Amino acid sequence: MEKPNVVLGVTGGIACYKALELVRLLVQDSCSVRVVMTREATEFVAPLSFQTLSGAPVGTDLFSLTQESEIGHINLADSADVLVIAPATANVIAKLAAGIADDLLTTVVLATQAPLLVVPSMNVHMLAHPMVQANIAKLRSAGYHVMEAVAGYLACGYEGKGRLPEPPAIAEEIRRLLRPKDLSGEKIVVTAGPSREALDPVRYISNRSSGKMGYALARAAARRGAKVTLVSGPTALAAPEGVTTVPVVTAEEMRAAVLAEFDSATAVLMAAAVADYRPRSTAGRKMKRGDGNRRVEFVPNPDIVAELTARRGRQVVVGFAAETESLVENARQKLHRKNLDLVVANDVTQEGSGFDVDTNAVTLLDRDGTVTPLPVMSKDAVADRICDWLLQHREHSHRRGA
Ligand code: PMT
Repeated sequence: MEKPNVVLGVTGGIACYKALELVRLLVQDSCSVRVVMTREATEFVAPLSFQTLSGAPVGTDLFSLTQESEIGHINLADSADVLVIAPATANVIAKLAAGIADDLLTTVVLATQAPLLVVPSMNVHMLAHPMVQANIAKLRSAGYHVMEAVAGYLACGYEGKGRLPEPPAIAEEIRRLLRPKDLSGEKIVVTAGPSREALDPVRYISNRSSGKMGYALARAAARRGAKVTLVSGPTALAAPEGVTTVPVVTAEEMRAAVLAEFDSATAVLMAAAVADYRPRSTAGRKMKRGDGNRRVEFVPNPDIVAELTARRGRQVVVGFAAETESLVENARQKLHRKNLDLVVANDVTQEGSGFDVDTNAVTLLDRDGTVTPLPVMSKDAVADRICDWLLQHREHSHRRGA
């Protein structure tokens, strides 16, 4: 989609101010944003703030002759690729559930054919009220997407569920709704992050993987309609929206979690940096410092991806190869030794590539001998290229009648 049109409805709750940040993120993401505010929302934030950030006039009044000729509620409804209401108050949720159209926003909702994302935010007791819950259930059954409110400190002074999710999480959900669902029907297992192998209760060996590459893959596949399970080693990243995340620590735990999903999976993308070795034994208590050297004996961990390809049926298995030298040669060896369908060769010495950065430089090598070097790009873009490869691979297999 060239420049997606997002219509953002803002209703009158204290979390209105977060919608400003959401507009900024969407504009930064090359979306064209049209904001519609309810009268109550304008009591919290001035329309001028939204107009300045979105660069477009803000709709507030269905019955204003000027606004109707400049903006037009049917125009807005027709132009939307996605309609988002954030924050959504209990009042607007009730109106939507009843099909009421008594202002510009609710009228646009009834008139649009675009997917609708509702992001509730309110007091903890209001959200838990059976009427509000029944209305939310009604919206879901009508096909509206409803994000879960987040638990935490609320502006009304209570602690509990009712906070608006942070703007990056809402923006991510919007991106997901905007993507063509070309991976629907796929069930993809993604691994991410490092494994940690304990030496004693306070020390472990691990590596520099931040999980960013694997999380980007999980997000990309989920946006494109795949059902995604993310098996993640310890990272500092927030669990992606719309993905089932299974936290693990050791290589053995990662193996068990991946195997539990493997039979029902259609593809596995192994971006995790799994430790090849672990200490033979883990001390029960913290090892004391002593004089002289200390030896630790390491034993090999299971090679998870090789085990998967040995037992695979219809699953496509993609491995990564983190290399510091002879990138293509070493990666090709891994492709064949581990019997992968695709290996993503990752030069971890290059600036802006590899561990703990937001960009990556990879070369894709597949079993047919095709080698595709990609320039440095965001990990999100790399993830999309890997999803594109999966799609093409499916089409080729389909044509070959496999
Ligand atoms: O997490 P980031 O900070 O974003 O960094 C991304 C990354 C550099 C970790 C990622 O892009 C990457 O290259 N991941 C693979 C790292 C790695 O362990 O490479 P390897 O060449 O050692 O392993 C080859 C393949 O075998 C990998 O798919 C790995 O997941 C798998 N493997 C390895 C060891 C093992 N015991 N079991 C495995 O399944």
